[in-house]
Amino acid sequence: MKVKNQILRALFLILSISLAISAVNAQTESTESSKSNPKQEVKKTNNNAQMSDIWYVIHNRRSVRSFKPDPIPDPKIKKIIDAARMAPTSGNQQPWKFLVIRDKKLINQMMEACVNESLSRYGANPSSETKEQYEQKVRKALSTGYFSAPVFIVVLTDNNSKYPDYNHWDGPLAAGYMMLAARALGYGTVFITDAISESVTKEVLQIPDNYTRVCITPLGVPVKWPATPPKKNLNEMISYDKL
Ligand SMILES: Cc1cc2nc3c(=O)[nH]c(=O)nc-3n(C[C@H](O)[C@H](O)[C@H](O)COP(=O)(O)O)c2cc1C
Repeated sequence: MKVKNQILRALFLILSISLAISAVNAQTESTESSKSNPKQEVKKTNNNAQMSDIWYVIHNRRSVRSFKPDPIPDPKIKKIIDAARMAPTSGNQQPWKFLVIRDKKLINQMMEACVNESLSRYGANPSSETKEQYEQKVRKALSTGYFSAPVFIVVLTDNNSKYPDYNHWDGPLAAGYMMLAARALGYGTVFITDAISESVTKEVLQIPDNYTRVCITPLGVPVKWPATPPKKNLNEMISYDKL
């Protein structure tokens, strides 16, 4: 009887230890798989602590083209630009200026200038719509699109910087940092080049000639975060040792 009890106790101990080991293994596996596959992490991610996870932010930044009117507190705008300030630059020259537009009047003026620019292209393609119909269509698309944002940021580089030939690298890097920082705070951006032309931006905002516009981005709470557009497979882009 005594021997039987000892055997049972030993079996119970072995069972307990193996259960504990498999629990630890399962935990380790789930941590490792979420590390190697940020998408898995995304599914679990919903609170602010995880929002600041760099992998989450990188995978979930999207170009946003429709915004809620919610205002953006100034400290948040500053925080976003502060992130851009940390981007690398050639010889640490930091040739940037960030022009923040919050004035609704200026935002409307930019939109009107975009409408006029579009109207100047009316008739370029054969269409049955009248000029008025075309204008209405453009105005609606712009007002519910980019220009629904409460804030715009123009990223500029100074042509008189220390190494102006390097500005075309330094500028977009800052814009990229800025867009990721905005995403981390729950705001959408889009790196706009042609949709709001440089001439419209410079004219309406009276930007001096010695600045080159890198891009302009609306900034705001997205009406909806867009789905990820098709991204090329990682393996198509990576080569090891030889291209
Ligand atoms: C150099 C550059 C120029 C762009 N110009 C515009 C633009 O004029 N209008 C626009 O809506 N999006 C513009 N985009 C945004 C791209 O369309 C967008 O990044 C791309 O479709 C991938 O989508 P994602 O940013 O959500 O990953 C531009 C992006 C870059 C990098």
